Amino acid sequence: MGTLAVLHASQLVTLASPKRPRLEHEMRDLAIIEVGGMLIRDGTIAAVGSSDEIARNLPDACEVADAGGRVVLPGFVDAHAHPVFAGDRLDDFERRAQGDSYEQIAAAGGGIWSTVEKTRAASDIDLFDQAKKHASWFLKCGTTTVEAKSGYGLTVDDELKILRVIRRLNDETPLEFVPTFLGAHAIPHEDRQSPQRYVDLVINEMLPRVAKEKLAEFCDVFCEQGYFDIEQSREISTAAKKLGLKLRIHADQLSNSGGAKLAGELKATTADHLEKTEEEGIAAMKSGGVQPVLLPGSVYALGSTCYPRAREMIEARLAVVIATDFNPGSSPSPSMPMMLSLACTQMRMSPAEAITASTINAAHSLGRGDKIGSLEPGKLANFSIFDCDDYREIAYYFGFPQTHSVYVRGRCVYRSPLQMG
Ligand code: NIG
Ligand code: FE
Repeated sequence: MGTLAVLHASQLVTLASPKRPRLEHEMRDLAIIEVGGMLIRDGTIAAVGSSDEIARNLPDACEVADAGGRVVLPGFVDAHAHPVFAGDRLDDFERRAQGDSYEQIAAAGGGIWSTVEKTRAASDIDLFDQAKKHASWFLKCGTTTVEAKSGYGLTVDDELKILRVIRRLNDETPLEFVPTFLGAHAIPHEDRQSPQRYVDLVINEMLPRVAKEKLAEFCDVFCEQGYFDIEQSREISTAAKKLGLKLRIHADQLSNSGGAKLAGELKATTADHLEKTEEEGIAAMKSGGVQPVLLPGSVYALGSTCYPRAREMIEARLAVVIATDFNPGSSPSPSMPMMLSLACTQMRMSPAEAITASTINAAHSLGRGDKIGSLEPGKLANFSIFDCDDYREIAYYFGFPQTHSVYVRGRCVYRSPLQMG
């Protein structure tokens, strides 16, 4: 693959060390190298330093990428997304504008179930083609790793179909996809009268197949009234853990129903959403070593103002993560820069905290903190160049892409067509 030198970054945002997620005040320290550079060998970072220093020690036949005084950042790590689904939810979107709530829309035939029907009817080829389009959107926003959940199939065959599409995305796009099994996303309509039958199907048939075929690293549950209650969520998560899957939980999104506490009890890797989580849930996550994954895009798109308590979580020394929750219903945005904007304006996080939460802390939440999420020797050369000279601009300007180019393992996989110099 050869060598590549990146020169003249106005700021090389390295996020180097410690070798664990950043906590509290550490989240504000991005370990920036002003006028920085980086040497990459065979897709791996070999050295970082001042641009001059890297330029002085260029190996023979080294390709050069001139950052031209722009900001260089580790590729965003999106630790919560639902990128494989068929169709859209434009009708839900329009109803919401007329004042209907997420719950009302679901009860009237929209919601998760309407996407399940379309996803069941779609062929694996059509699903893959649509997901590939979504993958290109993530890339355009500077994201290089995406966690990808199943959950719009809700039968053994359809859940496996989605997980296989995720595997194919991983093989055939430049992005790395981290698969999560979310069979417990909703009770399918055929089991509405007997939800326990579906819980048993997830535990006895889906989970063993997923584990046997190594189709997922994590298991997730939508723990919420009307979806999976605490007892059902505990049952499914415990079975998944026994099969070697790590745990993520959709917790306390619509009501403070004890999801964060359950995540703490089960020592889940993450508890996600947490819009309604209070002190007790925060304490439980702390004692269970759980990382909170905050999803401001879903609060925004549902027209709510109830954002999770990011400041309290940071002060409690939780390793906060920010992600898009990209999905057709509650968060149709693949844009991490948009999430940074929301984190700063709505959750009072600083731009540096938001960047930490969407790179190195997110990488740790996916069990990849040793490979991605920061620009350090030995890590994969996954990085993005943004068309600005101060990293804070990425969160400050919003609503248009500032991505200049994106690299995965040292290879340029996206370049903005709008470069004017
Ligand atoms: O994370 N909360 C559950 N799941 C998604 C929404 C999925 C959908 O509406 O299709 C979420 O917000
Ligand atoms: Fe979600």
